[in-house]
Formats: sequence, structure tokens, C-alpha cells
Amino acid sequence: MTKTELKTEQIQYRFPKSFWWGSAASATQTEGAADEGGKGKNIWDHWYEKEPNRFFDGVGPEKTSRFYETYREDIQLMKELGHNTFRFSISWSRLFPEGNDELNKEGASFYNHVIDELLAAGIEPFINLYHFDMPVALQEIGGWENRKVVDHFVSYAEACFRLYGDRVKKWFTHNEPIVPAEGGYLYDFHYPNEVDFQKAVQVAYHEILSNAKAIEAYRKLGGNGKIGIILNLTPSYPRSQHPADVKASEIADAFFNKSFLDPAVKGVFPRLLTDILKDEGYMPAMEQDDLEVIKENTVDLLGINYYQPRRVKAKEHLPHPDAPFMPERFFDDYEMPGRKMNRHRGWEIYEKGIYDILINVKNNYGNIECFISENGMGVEGEERFRGEDGMIHDDYRIAFISEHLKWVHKAIQEGSNVKGYHLWTFMDNWSWTNAYKNRYGFVSVNLDQNGERTIKKSGYWFKRVTENNGF
Ligand code: BG6
Repeated sequence: MTKTELKTEQIQYRFPKSFWWGSAASATQTEGAADEGGKGKNIWDHWYEKEPNRFFDGVGPEKTSRFYETYREDIQLMKELGHNTFRFSISWSRLFPEGNDELNKEGASFYNHVIDELLAAGIEPFINLYHFDMPVALQEIGGWENRKVVDHFVSYAEACFRLYGDRVKKWFTHNEPIVPAEGGYLYDFHYPNEVDFQKAVQVAYHEILSNAKAIEAYRKLGGNGKIGIILNLTPSYPRSQHPADVKASEIADAFFNKSFLDPAVKGVFPRLLTDILKDEGYMPAMEQDDLEVIKENTVDLLGINYYQPRRVKAKEHLPHPDAPFMPERFFDDYEMPGRKMNRHRGWEIYEKGIYDILINVKNNYGNIECFISENGMGVEGEERFRGEDGMIHDDYRIAFISEHLKWVHKAIQEGSNVKGYHLWTFMDNWSWTNAYKNRYGFVSVNLDQNGERTIKKSGYWFKRVTENNGF
């Protein structure tokens, strides 16, 4: 289809001018070169060395999608797909291999090149500082459990602001900070695989504190861009309007959404959550001025990752008295009959959830500037959709994105301050313990052909959406 023909395409959902169209990725999932260019080890390198069996097909983080080598070509592909923005993360252990103040110049220069290349392609870089990848040297002293790591994080953040702040105007302190707490300290899907509610609370608290302190540092340094956080928000729907179900959903919401959303945007913790922590004896260790720092340093911009809703019901069975304390002490998960599923990932697809989040942010969080920083669909075995034209015909992904975008559009009509939409992810990447099982990209990555890239049908579709600023 030519550009002139595109003009005649009927646009039913038109987005505001300068809407941010793009995608998101993270360092460990894309860069590869885990042992090269002076990078230190992070917890993924370490965990994979210890327990390769925990990773799908035994595939580890050492090579991933080779962005470290191929960033120039990849950025050209982003341009071809019409990206005007792209979010990636800096690998802390590439910049500071030991987690201390010793900068790895080669790592620093890699990110300079990436930023310059993006800008030259007309793509605004959004940089995230922490995407699940603690340097091993810092995990050895306890990772986020240890308050000293908060100080190390702030020094690392300051170094990034100094190195790249002249060109980068959108910063994010964390991606989904609840995940290292729940994955590493409750549900066993991140290193260090502990099950310890008290530690999970401490980890979460330190992440929140580190967010506020990094924001404070950014402003003190005179940062003239915007700084925010990226949260995975999962609306908690009760099975019914029975008061016990509703209560269960409010508690789940306090644990999994408000826990980070409230301190990040409002500077305070939700009462329901702190009451539970106090009653159950799980308050984190805090220092005197912490709450003031959190209060004073809230985000300018909120990234919202949305994949699936959470459905809950009142508890049906009490946990064994000796079982570890878990948030699920207050609710049970509810499998709604007839729910639409992405069976590859085991996640429900509920498009309206994205709208409910945006309206909640509008009504209850001062309509803070926000954007959809991740949304996407991981599918196993996409090769079977490759046509004779060599392209993967991922119509299911086009349907997934467009159905979500319709709800984003509706939220905009109703006054939501949502500024963009980023797909997870640009090209197929390494999904932590799921490795390359589920593919999410606009661009496929052929691991048998040294990571060869081919644009999927959804990539071409997205290009038209960006050109038309709608669909
Ligand atoms: C988000 C993360 O939770 O979802 C990404 O920010 C992740 O890092 C993505 O890859 C998809 O989830 P998964 O577990 O299928 O990789």
C-alpha cells in the first residue's frame, strides 16, 4: 500500500497530535554480550549459572537478541515501523560492573551511541534505570533488602542523569518494582527465590524510597526533563458485589496496585495496606525522614504496563497455620467462567481493563500525565504463522493491540491524560525464565539464523497506524 492510498484509509480512531507511538524493551532481555564490554554479572547471569534448568529450553541471558551488536540496524527498523519514541533500560552492571562507583567507560559509551542513533532516527529515547537486573555484587549484600543499595542506586541514577541528561528528557526509575519483591521473595520466579513476606515488604519499601531519592537527585541536578516510574497495574475485579468479594478485591488492589501507585503519585502509602502490615506485624524498617522524602518527590509521569486483570473472591479456605504469610491470606484468585485467555502465557485478555486503569488514574490520581508503557501478547510457536512471503501473519496480535487501543481512545475522549502507547516489545526477546518461549515482538528474531530479523504483519500494521495517527 502506498502512502497516498493510506490517506484514503478510513480512520475511525484518531489519536491526539504527537501521540507517542513506539515500543519498550529492557537491557538484559535484548542486549546479550552479558560477559562482554566490561559488563559485570547481574542476578540473571548468576542464577542461570547456578540453575539453568529453571529457564525454558535451558536458554540463558548471555546472548539474548544481540542488541549490543545490532542496535544500529534495529533502530533503523524502529524507524521503518514509524516509532517516534522507544523505551529501553540501562543495565546497571554494564555501567557499574561491581555496583560501586567505578564506571565502565565502554558500557557508558554504548548507551551514548544508542541514544545518538535513536535521536538521529527521529525517535525520542525513554530511559528506564532498573528493570529486574540487580548487579550480583549488590545482591551479595542483600540487594533491595539492604538500605545501602538504595544509596548505590541513587549514585547510579545520578551518573546516568549526568552522562545522558543533555539528550534524554524522559526518565523512569523502575519498571514494575513490585515484580522483584513478589518474584524474588514470595512466588519464586526471580532470584534469590526466597519465600519471606517480611523481606518482600522491605524490598518493596526500599524500591519506593529509591524512586523518591532518585527523583530528588534528578531535580537537584537541575534535570529539565520528566521523571517517572513504570507500574504494572492490574485492576482487581471482585467475583460479585457481595461485600466479602468486594473487600477481597480492595485488599488485592492495595497490595498489588496502590502499594506503589499511591506513594509514587501521591507521596503516601494506602491506609488499608499499612493497617494490615501493622496488624500482622510486618512493617518495614524505616528511617526518620523517609516519609518526608517520599512525600516530597513524586513522579511527573506515570508509565502503565497492562497485560491482564486480577479477579478475586473472598477466601474459601483458611491457609494452613504454618504456611508462609502471603497476600493471598485475604483473597482467593477467581477464574471467571468464559474469560478470554491467551493460553500461551496463561493470562486473561480483558481489553476494557486498560480503560478502567486510565479512568482510575484520571479520577483518583489527579489525571497525572501517563502513557501505556507496555501492553502485548506473547505467543508460542509463531513460526507456524510464517507465510510464503516470509512474514509472520500475526493477526491475533493486531486484534489484541487494536482492541486495547479502542479503549485507550475512549479514555482520551473522556479526558484521560494518556500520551502514548508502547507495545511490549519491539523484537522478540528473552522473557526471563520463559526465555524465548513466547514471542512478543513486532519483529521476529530467528535464533537459528544468528538472530535474523523479519518484520511481522503487526509491524507493518503499526507503521500504518503511526502514519495515520490512528486506524
Ligand atoms: C513485563 C515486563 O512484566 O512483562 C517484561 O516488564 C516482560 O520484562 C513482559 O518480559 C512480558 O512478560 P513475560 O513474563 O511473558 O516475559
